[in-house]
Amino acid sequence: MTDNSVIRLHEVKRSFGEKQVLKGVSFEVNKGEIFGLLGPSGAGKTTIINILTGQLSCGGCAEIFGVSCGKIGREVYRRTGAVLDNCGLYERLTCADNLKLHARIHRVDFSRIQEALTQVGLEGCEGKKVKALSKGMKQRLALARAILHSPELLFLDEPTSGLDPATAAEIHLLMNSLRGSGTTIFLTTHNMDEAYRMCDRIALLSEGNIAECGEPAELCRKYCSNSELSIVTNDEQKLSLENTPENAEAIAALIRDSKLKSIHSSEPDLGTVFLRLTGKELDK
Ligand SMILES: Nc1ncnc2c1ncn2[C@@H]1O[C@H](COP(=O)(O)OP(=O)(O)O)[C@@H](O)[C@H]1O
Ligand SMILES: [Mg+2]
Repeated sequence: MTDNSVIRLHEVKRSFGEKQVLKGVSFEVNKGEIFGLLGPSGAGKTTIINILTGQLSCGGCAEIFGVSCGKIGREVYRRTGAVLDNCGLYERLTCADNLKLHARIHRVDFSRIQEALTQVGLEGCEGKKVKALSKGMKQRLALARAILHSPELLFLDEPTSGLDPATAAEIHLLMNSLRGSGTTIFLTTHNMDEAYRMCDRIALLSEGNIAECGEPAELCRKYCSNSELSIVTNDEQKLSLENTPENAEAIAALIRDSKLKSIHSSEPDLGTVFLRLTGKELDK
């Protein structure tokens, strides 16, 4: 484990019954980065978070802050926050009371509650019962609870899944501001756009293994060197050609014959990278 790494997985394996979900997963997450674990639904992303937060055992080696995930104690929990799949809020309690319970566990001053609610844009909602909140507001409250004790490491399991674009954008802003103040963020997502825009580095999980790990732009360059050209002709024919020297003549002919209405290149994206590496589409 390098000095800079906050999370380290080495040859991590996990099965449920006969089914081997993780077959030897290795990667490290560095201090201060937003790291994205990208994979289709059922790939094992939540399983990895459950292992890292000490809720599931595994084969191989999994560590956070240099402590084996099987032996996580109070000290590590104090430095860690999480927004998990099932947001785990008490529906019949108010926003403030939900946060008070968490503040007591982490021995955080109650004055921090107001601050955290403001950070996630829920100021004024302290007295509202959770059951009266929209899905997006609940997710923001779960986020307020996760950051209440100012953790160094934050796990976000598909934090924007099913949210409207405006709420998702607010959560992205907050993630950027947390990173700006030095928080390390471990994000799982099957949204490639989100991964591309938000993450410093990503790992692609497929069939129980990490197919690739690196900076999003670098992976796109590596696997999508020939971008696609989308062409529309004057008679409204739509063509899709690879941007290769062999296709240059065909395009030149369209121009010569005044048949070209529009041409644009589609930027390589992580979905294409995933498809090239695994032969599968990331689900939308
Ligand atoms: N507690 C469990 N018992 C049995 N199977 C499980 C359990 N947790 C996860 N799985 C299985 O492991 C696979 C990966 O699940 P999960 O980690 O939730 O995927 P993801 O979060 O990437 O959608 C799925 O096939 C799921 O059914
Ligand atoms: Mg999941």
